[in-house]
Amino acid sequence: MNNHQGYVNKDYLENASLVFKEIKKSSYEKMSIASGDRVLDVGCGPGIDVAGLAKQVSQNGLAVGIDHDSEMIAEAKTLAGSLGVSENVEFHVHDVAALPFDNNYFNSCRSERVFMHLTDPLTTLKEMYRVTKPKGHIVVTDSDWSSLSIDGHTVDTEMKLFQFHRDEVMASGYTGRSLFRLFREAGISDIQINIFPLFTTNLGAFSNLVRLQVIEERASAANAISKDELASWREQLQQAADDDCFFCSMNIISVSGIKPG
Ligand SMILES: C[S@@+](CC[C@H](N)C(=O)[O-])C[C@H]1O[C@@H](n2cnc3c(N)ncnc32)[C@H](O)[C@@H]1O
Repeated sequence: MNNHQGYVNKDYLENASLVFKEIKKSSYEKMSIASGDRVLDVGCGPGIDVAGLAKQVSQNGLAVGIDHDSEMIAEAKTLAGSLGVSENVEFHVHDVAALPFDNNYFNSCRSERVFMHLTDPLTTLKEMYRVTKPKGHIVVTDSDWSSLSIDGHTVDTEMKLFQFHRDEVMASGYTGRSLFRLFREAGISDIQINIFPLFTTNLGAFSNLVRLQVIEERASAANAISKDELASWREQLQQAADDDCFFCSMNIISVSGIKPG
């Protein structure tokens, strides 16, 4: 089992994929996939998108997934088998700081909610650029954690908790809003930006999606918030849920572009 910061498991990602369904669909469209294409999903997790991409490239194409977590890749192979797309998928256990593919190998590449876990996201974006063919599309989607907003009275605690999350829990907690700059720095052209607002009024769903307990416990252990602050924060969230008035929103940012030809 991997123990790196930000680790999530297959069940978490399957649940999240329902929330992110439209965002995923939009990212496939931005890749402009044609039958027979070779496409890459960087940080593929349990292969939900590789299976989706496999259907789009059809039987004469190839959808490739790469992730450094061997358990995720095992799940991805099982999923591809159960969906009958094993013949046109391929998986690699590898760090995405260096992609084990030749230059100009893929027609298009994508990555979703991975850059926030990378210590050097620009290196990975440049690798995606390198392995994409000229005129090929590159799409990266990430959460804009700075846009997370929760209704309530303990605003100071909210600010401290999620600043701790961006600075200490995530390897790169500001990548969502940095994607445009990273695309510029990588030399990608025809950049387009799409922002997807998410909201929930369900405290349980929110807690699961952001892994709230992990953030709270780590912030408390690091003395970023006091025990009293944590207790009244939790009490307030529970009160809001009991009163059926919990509300939280956040933006997901997706940036796409083309490798110049
Ligand atoms: C939040 S999950 C997203 C998975 C998938 N993209 C999705 O949308 O379902 C992040 C994934 O990135 C992978 N990951 C994080 N850092 C990595 C690295 N340096 N090299 C390869 N994979 C990495 C994790 O193992 C995990 O599967």
